[in-house]
Parts: sequence; C-alpha cells; structure tokens
Amino acid sequence: MDISSHGLLPELLVLDIPEVDAQHEAIFYRIENLKYHCIEHNELPEAVVGDLLAFLSEHFATEERMAAALQLEFTEHARMHRETLTTLGGWVRVVVSGQRDVFSFLRYLEIWFERHIREEDQPFADELHEREARNRALR
Ligand SMILES: [Fe+2]
Repeated sequence: MDISSHGLLPELLVLDIPEVDAQHEAIFYRIENLKYHCIEHNELPEAVVGDLLAFLSEHFATEERMAAALQLEFTEHARMHRETLTTLGGWVRVVVSGQRDVFSFLRYLEIWFERHIREEDQPFADELHEREARNRALR
C-alpha cells in the first residue's frame, strides 16, 4: 500500500483549522486505503473499515471538543455525527452480509465525506474563526 496521505485533501475543502484539516486528510487516506483493499479482494475488509469508523468517531469527538471549548452551538452538528456513525455501521452490516455490493458503499462514503466537510464543517469553521477573532478583540 503506497498511497501517501499527503495532498489527498483538495484545497477547496481546507478549513484552516489545522487539527481538523489533518484529520480530514487522514480520513481521505483511510478511504483510499479501503478502496484499494476492496478492489484487491472484492470484499469489505472488516478490520480496515473498523479502523475508518473508529477514526471517524475520534474526529467527531475532536470537532465536538473544539465547539464546546468556544461555547459554540453544536447540538444539530453532533446529532448528525451520531446519525452518520449509525448509518455507516448499518451500511457495513448490509455489505458484509452480502445484501449490497461493496462499491455502492464506497461511492456513498466518498460522497458523504465531501458533503460533510462542505455542508457541516465549513459553517462550523466559519463560526469558529469568527468566535476566535471576537475573543482576540476582547483581550
Ligand atoms: Fe469533519
């Protein structure tokens, strides 16, 4: 496996939150790694997808911690995090049981992840930057 994680995060999806951007890049890497394994073996490797889901849950916890630290309203975003983990876990079960093919899952995963950054994390980043600027101005 020689896919490098460096450069996998498209510039348009950079949020200027270094910790979150680094995690997004690491998630792109894990999705690429998962695709590679699926193409090689034509099945969903449970350990690789398990690692991806564990990392996603860690990533969501990072966003939730940052929002809490700045007292940003995050209820809806956190609800979407929980829903996503449930949905992806469900997808894994139906793929592993043979009810859906692995490539439909991969397509879903890629589309979902880009949308997560654009529609959920971009507004979060805007709010976080605004709050940080306001806090700086108050000091
Ligand atoms: Fe994110």
